[in-house]
Amino acid sequence: MALRIGVVGFGTVGQSVARRLLDTPDPRVRLLRVCGRANGRERPAWLPRSVGWTTDFDALLAPDIDVVVELVGGIQPARSWLHRALIAGKSVVTANKQLVAEHGQELLALAARQQRTFRFEGAVAGGVPVVRAVEDGLAGDRLLGITGILNGTCNYILSRIERAGIPFDEALREAQELGYAEADPTADVDGFDARAKLAILCAIAFGVRVRTSDIECGSIASVTPDDFLRAGRHGCTIRQIASAERTEDGVVACVKPTLVPLDGPFARASGAQNVVAVRGELGGETVFTGQGAGGNPTAVAVLSDLFAVARRELSSVPAPAAAGAARKRGLALVPKYA
Ligand SMILES: NC(=O)c1ccc[n+]([C@@H]2O[C@H](COP(=O)([O-])OP(=O)(O)OC[C@H]3O[C@@H](n4cnc5c(N)ncnc54)[C@H](OP(=O)(O)O)[C@@H]3O)[C@@H](O)[C@H]2O)c1
Repeated sequence: MALRIGVVGFGTVGQSVARRLLDTPDPRVRLLRVCGRANGRERPAWLPRSVGWTTDFDALLAPDIDVVVELVGGIQPARSWLHRALIAGKSVVTANKQLVAEHGQELLALAARQQRTFRFEGAVAGGVPVVRAVEDGLAGDRLLGITGILNGTCNYILSRIERAGIPFDEALREAQELGYAEADPTADVDGFDARAKLAILCAIAFGVRVRTSDIECGSIASVTPDDFLRAGRHGCTIRQIASAERTEDGVVACVKPTLVPLDGPFARASGAQNVVAVRGELGGETVFTGQGAGGNPTAVAVLSDLFAVARRELSSVPAPAAAGAARKRGLALVPKYA
C-alpha cells in the first residue's frame, strides 16, 4: 500500500517534487492529485492523466488523499489549509519557513492530537537535512549554539562584491538577472528569510520558541568592496551569518553581515550553499553543509519527509481513531478529482 499524495503549489519546488515522484516511482508513495492556483498556471502537458489536477484545495481533503504537501509559501492561506488537512486526518509535509517559524508549534500540536505527522525538512537549508540531524542525531547532547549561512542569495551577492569589487546594487542586479534574487529582495537582503529558518532551528535545538520579531536583523545592503579589503587584512571575509546562543537568560539570536575567518567553513560557502554549525556541551561543533535552495535539493527534503511519514504510518498498527480513517481511505475513490 502506498501513501497517496496531494500537492498544493506547483512552482519551482512543487514541480521538482512531482517529477521526482513520477520519474522514480517508489512503492511507498504515489502522487494522486495536484492543486494549482485558480487563474494561475495551466496543467502542464508532462503531468500524466493518472494524476488529477484541480484548483480547489478541498480536493486534497478528499478521503483518497493520505498526505498533503504544501509548496505555496506565505502564512495564509497555507495555515488554514494545513489546519484543515490535519483535522481531516491527513499528514502534512511543507517547505514553508515563514509558516513553520510562526505557527509550527500549533501545527505540531494539532498533528499530535490527530495522531498524524507534520514534517518540514525543506523549510530550513533546502536539501541539507539539518532539521532531522539536530532533532534526532544530536538529541543526546545539550545544544548551546547555532551558527549558519542560511541564505544563498546573500552568499552570491557578497561573493560578487568580494571577487568582482562591484557595489551592492550591481551585484544585486546580477543576482536578479540570473534568477538568484527576487524582484523584491528585501526578505533575503535584510535577513528576514534567514531569521525564519533560525527561529525554526532554535525551537528544534534548544526546545525554545524564539519569535522571529525578537531576532535582530542587519542588512547586507551597506556592505562595500572596501569592507572586504579591510576584512581581508585581518584574515577574514564577510558573510550573512545567522547565530543563536543559549544563555542563562534565554536564547539570544541575530542575523547580520559578519566577519568570518578565511580558512573556516563559512568563508568557503558559495552560491546557494548553506552551512550550519551546531555546538553541543558534549559533542563540540558539528557542521552540516550542502545545497540550501533550488527545486531539486528542496525536493529531496520533501521526499525524505514523505518516506518518513510512510515509515511511521504504513508500518504502525493504526490507532483506533486512525483505523476508521484508514478503512475509509482504502475504500474511497473520488473520480471527480482524478
Ligand atoms: N525555491 C527554493 O529554492 C526553496 C527552497 C526551500 C524552501 N522553499 C519553500 O518552498 C515553497 C515553494 O517555493 P517555490 O520556490 O516553489 O515557489 P514558487 O515557484 O513561487 O511556487 C509557488 C507556487 O504556488 C502557487 N500558488 C500560489 N498561490 C496559490 C493558491 N492560492 N493555490 C494554489 N497554488 C498557489 C503558484 O501558482 P502560479 O504558478 O500559478 O503562480 C506557484 O506555482 C515556499 O514556502 C518556499 O519558501 C523554496
